[in-house]
Amino acid sequence: MAINPHGGRLVNRSMDEDERREWVAKAAKLEKIVLNDRELSDLEMIASGALSPLEGFMDSRNYRSVLDSMHLTNGLPWTIPITLSVERDQARMLKVGERLALTDSKGTLLAVMDISEKYEFDKRERAQKVFLTTDEAHPGVAATYRMGEVLLAGPVALLQGVPHRNFLKYRLGPAETRALFQKNGWKTVVGFQTRNPIHRAHEYLQKCALEMVDGLLIHPIVGETKEGDISAEMRMKCYEILLNNYYPKDRVALVVNPAAMRYAGPREAIFHAIVRKNYGCTHFIVGRDHAGVGNFYGTYDAQHIFGEFKPAELGITPLFFEHAFYCKPCGGMATTKTCPHGGEDHVFFSGTKVREMLRKGKVPPPEFTRPEVAEVLISGFRND
Ligand code: ADX
Repeated sequence: MAINPHGGRLVNRSMDEDERREWVAKAAKLEKIVLNDRELSDLEMIASGALSPLEGFMDSRNYRSVLDSMHLTNGLPWTIPITLSVERDQARMLKVGERLALTDSKGTLLAVMDISEKYEFDKRERAQKVFLTTDEAHPGVAATYRMGEVLLAGPVALLQGVPHRNFLKYRLGPAETRALFQKNGWKTVVGFQTRNPIHRAHEYLQKCALEMVDGLLIHPIVGETKEGDISAEMRMKCYEILLNNYYPKDRVALVVNPAAMRYAGPREAIFHAIVRKNYGCTHFIVGRDHAGVGNFYGTYDAQHIFGEFKPAELGITPLFFEHAFYCKPCGGMATTKTCPHGGEDHVFFSGTKVREMLRKGKVPPPEFTRPEVAEVLISGFRND
């Protein structure tokens, strides 16, 4: 039997064809809200059930409950507020009970939303509770400070899918990944979150996990990431080349995750796990400084936070990994859990260091990156 979605039921907030026709015609008369890229990602994920049990943007009671207790008001674990913000001027024109049209920046009508509540929120409090800092150097905090002052709550219903031009064959929603896992006969599936090209350490984690379960879902984030991160296009090329050369085809699925990256470290690790549970994963990999940025979080904080939840309420099993490196005497990837040698024998690389090398046209060593991946990255950086 497949793993239950969070809350027991996979949400589907897409209109059927008749309703859609009716509302496309009526939408011209509705007040319009233009969503930014992050909000579009959230809308798409609410509609597909990736954020089950959410059926819309959060009201103030759920917002408060998530900030203060990392649970929704119905008692389910939830760590990241999912909200839609507008400026005060615009909020004044909107009435609770009213139906709104949600569009992208080009004015394409995507969804309707029934406003159940408008409420103000404290950005510094949100930053402190979600990101554990109010420092604007943190990209998640900076994004919070850029938000409008008023949050609009209410259920959404999608009129048409968020338009995408890239990765079309990799865009599967939770109902589709669940069907795929079932078709493949995978009873246990480990999810892998990433916003980077897959380096040797990532590959090591994935393959260790794959020894224990039936399938691996490589689920890179292709929503908004911070400046300086490697583009989703370049990353996807690397994933394809790696999967073709080093992974067993019948045990791995590559699917893009439309989420925006928040860089909320520990709280985002819980959120990432819940989202992957909705996609049908039974296990989830959490390595070093998961979803971290700079030095804002301790190396294993994103693992420790799982101790604050009962395993049954999360319903997905985290697989924790120590910081992995290449060890010269061992002749392979290892961690301090499996290798007796000292630091001088270990090849460690940070993403920042590798990006610097790539920018200078230097090839990262094979102990860090497979040569085929290094080639894609180098040529990508050359054309940048
Ligand atoms: S993240 O922001 O999505 O977490 P990244 O794509 O680098 O960044 O990491 C994907 C996953 O691999 C995360 O679970 C992270 O903790 C883990 N990870 C990355 N590098 C290492 C490493 N050297 N050792 C152990 N785990 C790692």
